[in-house]
Amino acid sequence: MSKPVRAAVFPVAGRGTRFLPATKASPKEMLPIVDKPLIQYAVEEAVAAGATKLVFITGASKRAIEDHFDSDPELERALTEAGKTELLHSIKDIVPDGVSCVYIRQGEPLGLGHAVLCARSAVGDEPFFVHLADDLIAGTPGCLSQMAGEFQNHGCSVVAVEEVPQESTSSYGIVAVEDAEKGSRMTEIVEKPSPENAPSNLAVVGRYLLVPEIFDKLESTGRGAGGEIQLTDAIADLLEDTDVYAYSFSGDRYDCGSKLGYLEATVAYGLAHKEIGEAFREILKEYIRR
Ligand code: UTP
Repeated sequence: MSKPVRAAVFPVAGRGTRFLPATKASPKEMLPIVDKPLIQYAVEEAVAAGATKLVFITGASKRAIEDHFDSDPELERALTEAGKTELLHSIKDIVPDGVSCVYIRQGEPLGLGHAVLCARSAVGDEPFFVHLADDLIAGTPGCLSQMAGEFQNHGCSVVAVEEVPQESTSSYGIVAVEDAEKGSRMTEIVEKPSPENAPSNLAVVGRYLLVPEIFDKLESTGRGAGGEIQLTDAIADLLEDTDVYAYSFSGDRYDCGSKLGYLEATVAYGLAHKEIGEAFREILKEYIRR
């Protein structure tokens, strides 16, 4: 049996330029899908997969994330007095008992790899999850739980992958794998290759389960694509020493870092919402009729 995974790292220090001006003063990760911010879906997925230490790598304009996961006695008192029990639970139980939050500032946005390296002291010598909140994945069990299961099988790093159109390879880390299994040994990983040079159309999405050896690799990773320290490059280094698995998860992914993906997620989660789903369906039908 491999060690259980207890730490989850949430790199939230990016500037979210694709969502400006919405993200000028507030974090992309606080954008709501119906009534919960993206980062709350992320935390719920990580906690369901067994995480008890949540490590947020934050940057400029990200204070709202800390506030969201902190208690708010004044609001709690007001909701209690108004008898709004359900709403009270919705704000009190965001971080369950026994789960702790750590916030680390990434001084400069030097890339995802650098953000993950900032988590080193908080994670220690343990396997850990990395979750990018703008990749929202609807699935039961959650994507990280599925990956934790895969980790129990192999004891090696696991990276979530999905097929993308060949013309989109230059937006992703792209992997080559040994066979067509759901969880397959990776043979190659390249950051943002052009469609002609991509080894496949299997793209890395925002979920990783990494062994702590990745930190030494990140220490020596120079700047790569876009002048940033790329997690993909460190994983390519790790691949020289140990197995890494590419895992085709079950579930629907929405790229909420893009406007269209965000709107699609809002429609999907709106339709599935127990309180407003039916009424929302009627509104959408009306729009289609027009
Ligand atoms: P993105 O490439 O989506 O960048 O980062 P971004 O800044 O969030 O958004 P755009 O492209 O400007 O619209 C992927 C993930 O890595 C984090 C981001 O917060 C996001 O979760 N990240 C990126 C950091 O934490 N630090 C960095 O230096 C760069």
